[in-house]
Amino acid sequence: MHSFHYSNGSLHCEGVSIADVAEKHGTPLYVYSSETFRDRYMRLDDAFSAIDHEVAYAVKANSNLSVLRLLAGLGSGFDIVSGGELFRVLKAGGDPGKCTFAGVGKTREEIEYALREGIYSINVESEEESAFISQVAGELNLVAPIAFRVNPNVDAKTHKYISTGKSENKFGIDFEFIADAYERASKLPNLNLKGLQMHIGSQLTSISPFVEAVEKVAPLAADLKAKYGIEFFSIGGGIGIVYEKALASGSESWWNDQPEEIRPLTPEQYATAIIPTLEPLGLKILLEPGRFIAGNAGILVSKCLYEKKGTTKTFKIVDSGMHQLIRPALYEGFHEIVPVTESAGAVESVDVVGPICESGDFFCQNRQVNSFMPGELIALMSAGAYGMVMASTYNSHPLPAEILVDGEQAKVVRKRQTLQDLVEAEEV
Ligand code: LLP
Repeated sequence: MHSFHYSNGSLHCEGVSIADVAEKHGTPLYVYSSETFRDRYMRLDDAFSAIDHEVAYAVKANSNLSVLRLLAGLGSGFDIVSGGELFRVLKAGGDPGKCTFAGVGKTREEIEYALREGIYSINVESEEESAFISQVAGELNLVAPIAFRVNPNVDAKTHKYISTGKSENKFGIDFEFIADAYERASKLPNLNLKGLQMHIGSQLTSISPFVEAVEKVAPLAADLKAKYGIEFFSIGGGIGIVYEKALASGSESWWNDQPEEIRPLTPEQYATAIIPTLEPLGLKILLEPGRFIAGNAGILVSKCLYEKKGTTKTFKIVDSGMHQLIRPALYEGFHEIVPVTESAGAVESVDVVGPICESGDFFCQNRQVNSFMPGELIALMSAGAYGMVMASTYNSHPLPAEILVDGEQAKVVRKRQTLQDLVEAEEV
């Protein structure tokens, strides 16, 4: 469920007309719904209310300061992967004591920064890293709270670029080696073995890989608790969202109408399937959702500039592209495309493409979309996660603005870049 819908034939985010914000702030434009962020966070949090748990939002999905502030206000913790993300969380008023720091390549500066700020745990991805963290902590006269990330070798059945839990992926320590890694780390002077972490991949649309991974790793968590007194088990993120019928999935009735076998994963289903295995552990369970919280909470609004009819195709050329939403090009990601002004139902097969000088610069190819013409606005749905955060200025296009809607209010939470901003750090 989310808060984007047509009202009187015009796309709205909560009580705000998308056409109005686009008129006022220009395009391309990211628009987010506070209500959707809140709803997603609370639904997941509630689903786990039966056990000791914490939601640590994966900042990488959408790191806008206002988004982080909103989530911090709900009591969210944060899963960060760089010093930059920690900086953002702190700026937004987040609690470092509720932050976990993941990632395979942390630098000395980042480790020092995290330790000085009193981070909850550093999630360690190799034994080399644990030795280095112990050394850095020693130099600072601190004890570093750590968890190892275990790679459970479970197939997440998602796109190969966002699958992380197989032994051929660079992430975590192989399941076979993890007990020894803890044993050796327990002898290092400046480490506190605080938890265990895993994350098998992103955009998982079925429950079975989650269940398989939790059932495989839970006995290890129990052992580590008995041996080293660990206090948490982080089961990572990865809950998938609706992309194909994104707009329709905003309403509760759509969910109720979906036949059981094809109904997308819900937080309640997720919780019900794994809580029985997690509860007996008596550990704090950390969840690291990114996409589930942010994905359906945002859209990218773009304007159609030209229509070009070739011998085999019709191209709709729009003012945004792979530089501002790279998911179609990078992961064959599907983003539903809808006209901002509801059309009378004419549908045509088109390629929606951007201005970038790359053939990979498309939002869709040969897709039946509701017809729209030059001058008209479209929305790329489900663009709240891994959208703006992955945007670049390739071809020297300034970054788009970001708007956060709350009820009837639309606030600019990131200004559109200017041409001057593009060259600000450069010297002639
Ligand atoms: N925890 C860890 C350790 C992760 O690596 C990730 C995502 C998450 C949590 C959050 O996963 P989520 O709940 O969002 O699935 N750019 C790609 C997704 C990359 C995900 C990377 N790691 C995309 O656009 O599909």
